[in-house]
Amino acid sequence: MPIREPDVPDVACVNGEFSPIEDARVSVEDRGLQFGDAVYEVLRAYDGRIFAILEHLDRLARSCRHIRLDAPGVLAELPGQISEALARSGYADAVIYIQLTRGAARRTHLAPDSIRPTCIVTVRRVEQWYRDEQANGVSAVGFEDTRWARCEIKSTDLLANVLLKQQARDQGAFEAILFDRQGELIEGASSNVFVAAGGVLRTPSLSPHVLAGVTRLTLLRLASGQGIPAEEGRITRDAMADAAEILLASTTTEVIPVVMFDGRPVGDGHPGPIARRLLEAYQSAVRGG
Ligand code: PDD
Repeated sequence: MPIREPDVPDVACVNGEFSPIEDARVSVEDRGLQFGDAVYEVLRAYDGRIFAILEHLDRLARSCRHIRLDAPGVLAELPGQISEALARSGYADAVIYIQLTRGAARRTHLAPDSIRPTCIVTVRRVEQWYRDEQANGVSAVGFEDTRWARCEIKSTDLLANVLLKQQARDQGAFEAILFDRQGELIEGASSNVFVAAGGVLRTPSLSPHVLAGVTRLTLLRLASGQGIPAEEGRITRDAMADAAEILLASTTTEVIPVVMFDGRPVGDGHPGPIARRLLEAYQSAVRGG
């Protein structure tokens, strides 16, 4: 739980300068704003410790390489800035957001060689615990994936994800689950997706269409520790209709069971045993258990 007064503002760090989040500023010419020319990470701190920081920073470095954002100095300074921002916030449990943009310059598609990256870190109180969703499950709806072909890059260019999520919400659902044109499962609009059938846990293999989720990898490891057979591979929309369980996984939501998919109950319409075991194992692992 947060250990400081609720009226103390959340913390930001922009290019090494710390401030209350409300006072943090970037240029209107920043390419993150103008073009979505930026990559990001979302991390969680539990009991003052950041979970899987190395995995997140590795993925950020990979995203930078994919978009040819050469920022070794900025990446090297990030761990110190993240720790200091968390310490300044005083929060034990927090959401940490990192964004690296190509920088600010007069708007033309091709960035000038002289441009310097913009680095943003924010630390916010955890306001949404998703306890109800984790305990009781949520509904989800399937859509054809309308995003670009490089979703392994954690880009801030999330318009398609936002619109898909809104469409799901319009149908009373929590998440949009995305399929390719052949009806193969890809991931959620803001989560990776697992399916359990016959006691086996399955999730789509990594590809340029799937984000290599840190929670996804954690759950694959925890499943093996729990004696739950787990596989990566193809999952069709038809197979999802027969699944005993469907699970959503992400840093902010942890593990959430899907109990209604495309308007039909998943399994018996209640959170299943694999979701329950993995959620428990995950919540213990993030607190060092
Ligand atoms: N999103 N796939 C997509 C499209 C995502 O946006 C996310 C997470 C994931 C799960 O990744 P991870 O387990 O590393 O959090 C998969 C974050 C939380 C967000 O955009 O807020």
